[in-house]
Amino acid sequence: MPASAVHQPLLSWYCANARTLPWRQPGTDAWRILVSEVMLQQTPVSRVLPVYESWVARWPAPPALARDSAGQAVRMWGRLGYPRRALRLHAAAVLIDGQHNGKVPQTYAELRALPGVGDYTAAAVAAFAYRRRAVVLDTNVRRVLGRVFAGVANPDRGVTAAERRLAEQVLPDDGPTAAAWSVAAMELGAVVCTARAPRCADCPISGLCAWRRRGYPAGDNNRPGGQRYAGTDRQCRGRILELLRGSDVPVPRQVVDAVWSTAPQRERALRSLLNDGLVVETSEGALALPDEATSS
Ligand code: ADE
Repeated sequence: MPASAVHQPLLSWYCANARTLPWRQPGTDAWRILVSEVMLQQTPVSRVLPVYESWVARWPAPPALARDSAGQAVRMWGRLGYPRRALRLHAAAVLIDGQHNGKVPQTYAELRALPGVGDYTAAAVAAFAYRRRAVVLDTNVRRVLGRVFAGVANPDRGVTAAERRLAEQVLPDDGPTAAAWSVAAMELGAVVCTARAPRCADCPISGLCAWRRRGYPAGDNNRPGGQRYAGTDRQCRGRILELLRGSDVPVPRQVVDAVWSTAPQRERALRSLLNDGLVVETSEGALALPDEATSS
């Protein structure tokens, strides 16, 4: 089967079935797309939506965020998780403001050089914001390509060279169609060709699917599975940040100590927050979000 056989059915399916999401509205600018893609890393759409809306309402362009403090970015990030993303997005805004005249750059290489922007995010912004031809390989796209063309249930842990070659071959030649194809494959993976409960009856390319033709062989099941959160250092870090976000002034150490009873774990979490630059210590030993360490 030529790779292009899957293009039309998938593109038509996307036109008729795609979820309406704010960052997919026609005319959405590159800053909004960058913000959405960073927020969507490892985070479900439903949790991203409210934070995204507040974020772009407050900082409609990179210079607005660059002029605000990193602490405000961490505050606005709320409970989205992996809060270093907020610091990196702030650092990206500062760099865009200083080196790109306040405009999100267009090329993959320039995007890739921004803080917090890895291969996936650089390709996604080049494709979705600027309609450039870029290989957008997130877990959903990888699963769809793996099933349809390689006949395997789930992709390996890391992106392989063969997978990248396949994705490059399947990608339509022109930029706008390539971008449309990538978001369509991503959507199919998110809502139909899911990891645990694929709905093949609703799939526009099930007739072309190698995995289906092979009788749905099971994968290695090398997936990490549900990650425990309760009791982890991540949860402890989240508690400390939540406390600091809720305060306009630096918080005394004893108050921070009260949010988590296991002292060694609390100390470890706090040290990592200080190391990451998500929390700073005032000269009096109180704790605050970055750039907010002056008592008022
Ligand atoms: N549309 C564009 N990029 C997306 C993403 N990363 N997740 C969900 N929908 C998207």
